[in-house]
Amino acid sequence: MVQTQVGDRYEIKDLSLAAQGEKAIRWAEDHMPVLRMIKERFSLEKPLRGVTVGACLHVTKETAVLVKALQAGGATVYLCASNPLSTQDHVAAALVKAGIHVFAWHGMDAEGYYRAIGNVIKAHPNVTLDDGADLVSTIAKLKHGEGGAEVEIVKKVLEKKGDWWSSVWGGAEETTTGVIRLRAMAEEGTLPYPILATNDTPTKWEFDNIWGTGQSTIDGIMRATSELIAGKVVVVAGYGHCGRGIALRAKGLGARRVIAVEINPHRALTAALEGIDVMPMSKAAEVGDIFITATGCKDVIRKEHMEKMKDGVILANAGHFDVEINLKDLESLAVSKEEIRPNVDEYRLKDGRKIYLLGKGRLVNLVAAEGHPSSVMDMSFSDQALAVEWIVKHRDELKKMGNIVLDIPKEIDMTVAELKCKALGIELEKLTEEQLAYLKGWREGTA
Ligand SMILES: NC(=O)c1ccc[n+]([C@@H]2O[C@H](COP(=O)([O-])OP(=O)(O)OC[C@H]3O[C@@H](n4cnc5c(N)ncnc54)[C@H](O)[C@@H]3O)[C@@H](O)[C@H]2O)c1
Repeated sequence: MVQTQVGDRYEIKDLSLAAQGEKAIRWAEDHMPVLRMIKERFSLEKPLRGVTVGACLHVTKETAVLVKALQAGGATVYLCASNPLSTQDHVAAALVKAGIHVFAWHGMDAEGYYRAIGNVIKAHPNVTLDDGADLVSTIAKLKHGEGGAEVEIVKKVLEKKGDWWSSVWGGAEETTTGVIRLRAMAEEGTLPYPILATNDTPTKWEFDNIWGTGQSTIDGIMRATSELIAGKVVVVAGYGHCGRGIALRAKGLGARRVIAVEINPHRALTAALEGIDVMPMSKAAEVGDIFITATGCKDVIRKEHMEKMKDGVILANAGHFDVEINLKDLESLAVSKEEIRPNVDEYRLKDGRKIYLLGKGRLVNLVAAEGHPSSVMDMSFSDQALAVEWIVKHRDELKKMGNIVLDIPKEIDMTVAELKCKALGIELEKLTEEQLAYLKGWREGTA
């Protein structure tokens, strides 16, 4: 068990790491110009004065820039981790020094993970931010009186019964899996309050999921293994936004062959037309050197596939939960397991073959690397910051709308895109008066 330091409204690994964390946050902020502009405006206008934000996010240097922007806007921020292995302990320490209430450390066990969520709920947040929906779904379980070990841990922290959901005006969700979970809850009527689907807005998924996950997943694999991608056969399960980004980056690094495994014919065709082979995992298992899952589904790589794999293959996951590679199957096939390098477990199988598992099957880009590059998170977290401001401004309207999952307003998405272009020095073409009239004519059927 990891030793933690507990203080006045924080629990982290080691407060003495703060100076190192401050440098990391400075580096990220220097590469997040849009969020910096939003922070400057927030500092002047204080749109979040008196608001408590409860956030369950990967505690990285980029998240630090987001929560500091919210704090500059007047919010009090409580932050817990959205994954037990993604917390950057030096960043957590710097945030505590900056007055953010952080409950997160690298290597938290299940008890610590839910204790941290409990501490965020206990702060009576007005707005929640999630990456994977663990915070919202825990609040929903409290609301609907559901039991279970995780809820019991949270209840212990909360000490007393209460309407823990009633302080919340709305929330925003960062990732695909979280949005899928929340839409399912909305359909069955268990969503405790309205949610903005940040993941689904173009300035998020078109950049973060494709190019962010693409680069950082390959980065995680390279940092963990120090392996050459050139010449390898790389198998990517799921040719969605993340999988496509990963496959294109692997191709760009000289992979001899990139294979996509898909269940959706449109996605399979996209892969094929982008020069990627498509086949089922049962066939890909026989030829792949590196396997990467990015589906949001479970058991994508299981026993029957592991039994066919070559000696020395590498398995990594980029999907939100550690369920895509069936770890029980891997354990059952193995006669021994050893951590051969940080974030690399070597499984020796009965027949002498070795299979290497990276980052315990959790998000390899966050466990073995630093998550997405700051400049990509600039857009995702600008969407999140503006979503928080929107929820605060529109809280009365939201209440009337009911507990549904909403798209991020288009003007937020356009603002972020325009500011990012400006920051990158990208100049846009402007329509002439004649062109405007011509297009208007088409729309009105008079052209
Ligand atoms: N690592 C990260 O930093 C990061 C960033 C963003 C999203 N994510 C996570 O990655 C996962 C994928 O996200 P996305 O935005 O690419 O979603 P997506 O819906 O665009 O893509 C998922 C793809 O997987 C396919 N698929 C589903 N089950 C499959 C199976 N059993 N075998 C093969 N293919 C299957 C689907 O058809 C789809 O094309 C989610 O869990 C998401 O939360 C991770």
